[in-house]
Amino acid sequence: MKYVLMHKKEPVSLLNITTQGRNAVLKAETVYNKSLIPPGIYNPNGILNMKNLSIWFFSRGIPATRDGLSEALPLLNAEDSHEILLRSHGLSLTDHYWFQKPEENLDWSEINFFQNDFSDDIGKALFGKIPKSLNIDFNSPDAASAGNLKKRWTIHNGIRKLIKGGEGSFFQEPFNEQIASWVMDRLGLENTKYTIGWENNEPLCICSDFVDINTEFISATFIANLLKKRNDDSFYEHYITCCSAYGIDARPSLDKMLVADYIIGNRDRHLNNFGIIRNADNLQWIKPAPVYDSGASLWSRQAIPNISSKYEIPCMPFGNNHSDQILLVKTLPSFDLDCLTGIDEFIKSTFSKNPYMPLNVINLIATEVPKRIENLKIIAAQMESGVKLNPQVSKNFYKSSHDRDYQKRPY
Ligand SMILES: Nc1ncnc2c1ncn2[C@@H]1O[C@H](COP(=O)(O)OP(=O)(O)OP(=O)(O)O)[C@@H](O)[C@H]1O
Ligand SMILES: [Mg+2]
Repeated sequence: MKYVLMHKKEPVSLLNITTQGRNAVLKAETVYNKSLIPPGIYNPNGILNMKNLSIWFFSRGIPATRDGLSEALPLLNAEDSHEILLRSHGLSLTDHYWFQKPEENLDWSEINFFQNDFSDDIGKALFGKIPKSLNIDFNSPDAASAGNLKKRWTIHNGIRKLIKGGEGSFFQEPFNEQIASWVMDRLGLENTKYTIGWENNEPLCICSDFVDINTEFISATFIANLLKKRNDDSFYEHYITCCSAYGIDARPSLDKMLVADYIIGNRDRHLNNFGIIRNADNLQWIKPAPVYDSGASLWSRQAIPNISSKYEIPCMPFGNNHSDQILLVKTLPSFDLDCLTGIDEFIKSTFSKNPYMPLNVINLIATEVPKRIENLKIIAAQMESGVKLNPQVSKNFYKSSHDRDYQKRPY
């Protein structure tokens, strides 16, 4: 099927999209405006990379691994998430790309969701509710939303808000977001603020859209494609080099994010869980995006015996575990980690609002996190005194969300 890839009002490329399962392919038949092709699709040598284009398209829609998708598809009378994505024109609240059939002549200013209302049919179905009528209204940004957790967009007092569920029997993730935010605030790292809401006695976390009609998000997955990686650079250095080629000094915020992730033991900082914000009109890069999606941390969904600072915690994207990844952060000795004093009390007071978390688990987490901070101080002191600490990470190592999803639920 032919679709025109659009960016705001501009036609970008004529695409031929075949969506049959995971082997579906995207071909760009004509490029109308090279500068508007999503970043990271062209190879550094200037060749349009169709595989990158397919990855871009498929990472735009709801992943096959999304909680609640299989129950939602029959409610929406749809075969798969790509069908929903195309029926909603691929419009999102994270960037300004969309699709229309060549014979359609839709006006961006009338259909974009930054300025126009949208339907809650897809969002409702994703949360297991039957849409009001059989005539499903697909005009919704919920079809173009990534990530595995249940989520939907809403408008509250004119502000676009993303509502996201938790997982497991403790529904810990929404509360973890608040603890992560506390840590990042103290480290001076811009982060997305999540408030807690309740639905059917389950906690949800709610955050405001971090882009708007003038700005858009580009994930690290595609940023890392912008330049050819030098053999002697780690993937971490490569990412920083790609950002600096576009005028962003990513190191300070990246280092703060990796330090925060070490402290909270984040297992899920894959390359779609951070990136940059650019101006959607002149395409200038503005800043690293406020850090979001830090919920898969603080031993969530782990059995009690595993909740211990003694054990390695697997991590992403630059190392297999936090002890290796943190060694990439050469600025660690400059961090003032004493600013995190009181974290145990904050953890207790935050989790005490979650009736699903047993008190012994809360107390254990509140005891173990300060030990991770102490470990970090020891590593920082060793770095400062010149002890040679080499991360066990090969130069080409990184983990993407695909690595994570394949491990989690093979399909
Ligand atoms: N506040 C926001 N404003 C705009 N876009 C957002 C916002 N928060 C998240 N997104 C986009 O939505 C995607 C999914 O959100 P998020 O990462 O929070 O979900 P998730 O289900 O926890 O993901 P994962 O599969 O990594 O666990 C993000 O990768 C990002 O592209
Ligand atoms: Mg995510």
